[in-house]
Amino acid sequence: MLIILDEAYFEYAKDNPRYPDSMHYRYDNVITLRTFSKVYGLAGVRIGYGFAHEELIGNLLKVKLPFEPSTLAQAAGIAALADKAFLHRSLELNARGLRLLTDSLREMGLTMVPSEANFVMVVFADDAHAARVVEDLLAHGVIVRPLAAFGLPQAIRISTGTDEDNARCVTAMQKAVAAGVVE
Ligand SMILES: Cc1ncc(COP(=O)(O)O)c(C=O)c1O
Repeated sequence: MLIILDEAYFEYAKDNPRYPDSMHYRYDNVITLRTFSKVYGLAGVRIGYGFAHEELIGNLLKVKLPFEPSTLAQAAGIAALADKAFLHRSLELNARGLRLLTDSLREMGLTMVPSEANFVMVVFADDAHAARVVEDLLAHGVIVRPLAAFGLPQAIRISTGTDEDNARCVTAMQKAVAAGVVE
């Protein structure tokens, strides 16, 4: 059996002592996947990487498609790993965003699930409330993700953005609360 550890949010969570370090699980059936799509901001470039036992990598190479990610994408990924200043700025921006969203939405009386990633989950009274909030925020130009497809129809996911994006989201949510869209 192959165990795949999806560490898309690794960089955000790695300093949390409760976050398991998958480098301790280097068995021959374990692969750790990471991406440049999150903290490195390169989602459009489509590049990521993985760690696994040499034998497992050897077997993957036998069956993988012949085309690699583009040379430019590989160069971007390698450069991103070296760009510690960008990583630091990105982590700081996200930490500010999480703080702002968590504090502001809690102050509005909303229920938030603690986050170690680059998004928060807000839980509403029921699925109708969650759906109304999604619509109302959209009308104010703020796109959030309904979580019905993940089995949580009463919840939404809000990703952090720039400081301006985050402030705009808080203002839109304040309007929704004031308009009675949210309880
Ligand atoms: C858990 C998880 N894994 C992987 C990805 C996507 O990674 P990539 O853009 O490298 O396909 C995401 C982002 O949407 C994610 O949330």
